Amino acid sequence: MLDPFALVKDEVSEVSNRLRSMVAAEVPELTSAAGYFFRAGAEGKTTCPTVLLLMASAIRTDTPVSTIGSMNELRAKPMCIAEITEMIHVASLIHDDVLDLADTRRGMDSLNSAVGNKLAILAGDFLLFRAFSAAGSLDNAEVVSLLATALNNLVTGELMQMNVTPAQRCSMDYYLQKTYYKTAALISNSCKAVAVLAGQTADVAALAYQYGRHLGIVTAPVLFAMEEFPELRESVERGFHDPSDVATALEYLAKSEGIERTRLLATEHAKLAARAIDALPEVGDRVALISRQALKDLAQKLIRRTK
Ligand code: FPP
Ligand code: MG
Ligand code: MG
Repeated sequence: MLDPFALVKDEVSEVSNRLRSMVAAEVPELTSAAGYFFRAGAEGKTTCPTVLLLMASAIRTDTPVSTIGSMNELRAKPMCIAEITEMIHVASLIHDDVLDLADTRRGMDSLNSAVGNKLAILAGDFLLFRAFSAAGSLDNAEVVSLLATALNNLVTGELMQMNVTPAQRCSMDYYLQKTYYKTAALISNSCKAVAVLAGQTADVAALAYQYGRHLGIVTAPVLFAMEEFPELRESVERGFHDPSDVATALEYLAKSEGIERTRLLATEHAKLAARAIDALPEVGDRVALISRQALKDLAQKLIRRTK
């Protein structure tokens, strides 16, 4: 198996470096709050930028030797999408921690606990401004619209989680929709943005989107367990605010096929992600072929992590 992270690690670290300078604001307080999660050592996992940069290579068509010199130019746009995606992602986490009254994030103080809610909210707003002004400078209306859709989905997903009825808590459709919005919509729309910016066909852009969607979807062990043990329904309906409901759920989960079915669902999504890559137009370019294999391996690695 390839190490997908190793293949693009230099570019990913360039993205991290550039993010540090991109968040400079007029007011030093805002610069330091907005840059809080971009400081060295605070960046977290690099899955999103890795996927986007591999996707850019995976969909490149045979690159004639004459264009090798302008390689940096070819990589500049996907790197910019990676930066924008990271800014939107971090903004959503900063706002999420305010909403959740969270004390920690990535093993550090959350931004709200470090600087207070007010500055944390403004730092998130500022990151969204930086993200969309960078998107605007790419001069492609479809790309701006894809990123706006991702942002809308994040907000909608958060609201679906906040205002959920007892019946909705028990619905797999509702769960998967909310999960797609919260965890997969950003990467799927950004993958598509990479393809659109590369001037790819609508078919290729749709496959890039599908790959991101399947990669981003996580799973639902408790709801599967509930199908086997309907007595779990009441705990699920109440939303696990009460520790005794959590204990009940874990007890039933252990007895159920929930975990196994979750694993199967994750495997299915990894397969569908790989299928999207296999459906890309044939290519002879070696870098493209290696990147395609790396994207498939990455999907496998992510399910192993859920095991
Ligand atoms: C983490 O969920 C939260 C998200 C993935 C998205 C949150 C979205 C918003 C707050 C809407 C506003 C969006 C932007 C871009 C400003 P979690 O709380 O379930 O998980 P975690 O806290 O354990 O990571
Ligand atoms: Mg949270
Ligand atoms: Mg939350």
